[in-house]
Amino acid sequence: MAARAMTDPAAPAATPIRPLARPLAVVVLAAGKGTRMKSARHKVLHEIAGRPMIEHLLATLETLATERIVVVVGEGREQVEAQLAGRAALAVQEPQLGTGHAVLQAQAALAGFSGDVLVLYGDVPFVRAETIRAMLDRLGAEDRPQAVVLGFEPAHPLGYGRIIAENGRIARMVEHKDASETERASRLCNSGVLAAPADVLFDLLAAVGNENAQGEYYLPDIVNIAVARRETCAVVATDDPDEVAGINSRAELAEAEARWQQQRRARAMAAGATLVAPETVFFSWDTVLGRDVLVEPNVVFGPGVSVDDGVTIHAFCHLEGARLGRGVSIGPFARLRPGSVLEEGARVGNFVEMKAAVLGKGAKANHLTYLGDATVGAGANIGAGAITCNYDGYFKHHTEIGPRAFIGSNSALIAPVRIGADAIVAAGSAVSGDVAEGELRMVRADQLVKPGWADRFHDAMKRKKALGED
Ligand code: UD1
Ligand code: CA
Repeated sequence: MAARAMTDPAAPAATPIRPLARPLAVVVLAAGKGTRMKSARHKVLHEIAGRPMIEHLLATLETLATERIVVVVGEGREQVEAQLAGRAALAVQEPQLGTGHAVLQAQAALAGFSGDVLVLYGDVPFVRAETIRAMLDRLGAEDRPQAVVLGFEPAHPLGYGRIIAENGRIARMVEHKDASETERASRLCNSGVLAAPADVLFDLLAAVGNENAQGEYYLPDIVNIAVARRETCAVVATDDPDEVAGINSRAELAEAEARWQQQRRARAMAAGATLVAPETVFFSWDTVLGRDVLVEPNVVFGPGVSVDDGVTIHAFCHLEGARLGRGVSIGPFARLRPGSVLEEGARVGNFVEMKAAVLGKGAKANHLTYLGDATVGAGANIGAGAITCNYDGYFKHHTEIGPRAFIGSNSALIAPVRIGADAIVAAGSAVSGDVAEGELRMVRADQLVKPGWADRFHDAMKRKKALGED
């Protein structure tokens, strides 16, 4: 591994941090039942690119230096609490009486906060920081809107709340179920994302009722109340419906995953990686790729993988928690499990599995090998089918292989065991004791040699068979 710290050259250029004009607090709504997921797992904990949706959202909020985050939860709150581990306050909404009611539950957690409040949905995890900034900028504009709503024009507006607006100023917000034919004809829909100054937000929410088609306290009604008070409310529209796409089902989860992967592949290629068949390569949220990396078809990057410059990953490899140094080559059909480290120029071939194992500079394990809890020195050669026996059924043990050692094919290294530098382990050996530097270790029975025996055997058997057939 090159000594330099690896940063992801494909990561989007860090937006120059422009401090927000006012402090920001965020309320993340996540109390809905998520019935359509048909899952024991809370909806916001379902993963995209190996990372729970809520974490994608928190990562975006981090770039905005959010002062407070309150997540509104209902059922399954223990799961969300465990995931957040104190990084956000939780507010419980029980029962769930609508989005307006949900935001009200965050009021106690926001006591003493003065600044802007942004409302997000836990199941809409890819709202962009720039979009949020645009909303907050609009909120701070001279005409001082009481609320700013993020609008979008979906391909199929059916079901969404509508925004009736002119020149960016909202005249009315209406849920699909409550809307007239004319209102339904409006293409501009409510994404659900909304921003308002904290004091204004809670003042308006206190006036929201539930006399509507669903008997719910609608958050968008705060806009209607403000408008009735002759105040201004504004809409900021995004031209990318994908950024506000909600995830309500496994199918929508898969669609979000597909979009994420497509963007990540594009970034990888833009940053100098060759993906022979990009649509068959799957990255994790934290995959780090260097330049001139060649990735053949059908490769899966699990979490925690970093790949240095000039690495070749042949077809059908699966990697997780692995570090690949400069010029490494793996596969086809290699499996690198957590704790795999391949130092510069190391090679792993087909049907090789590694786990918590270091393969030193230029070392090779080219065929059918298992290396678990092992350290392999620079330039060592691990023969076909050689394996470390790291587990005795109760405990894991370590194997150490010195530099330039040669491990013959089909050897079993029974850990704990050390093989010294430049040692040779003969093919087929089951090695259960340490091997000294420069030693030859051969652990197999003496060979039985009987010249001509096979010829005599065949002659005798053929004769016997011929007699039997008479
Ligand atoms: C809501 C909006 C609608 C908008 C749509 C965008 C309202 C009344 N309607 O519709 O205008 O077009 O989002 O997707 O706001 N939630 C709670 N507690 C509740 C209800 C909902 O926490 O009592 C959370 C859900 O977990 C979810 C979010 O709020 O994350 C939105 O709820 P959902 O039922 O999906 O939205 P709709 O009412 O369909
Ligand atoms: Ca609803």
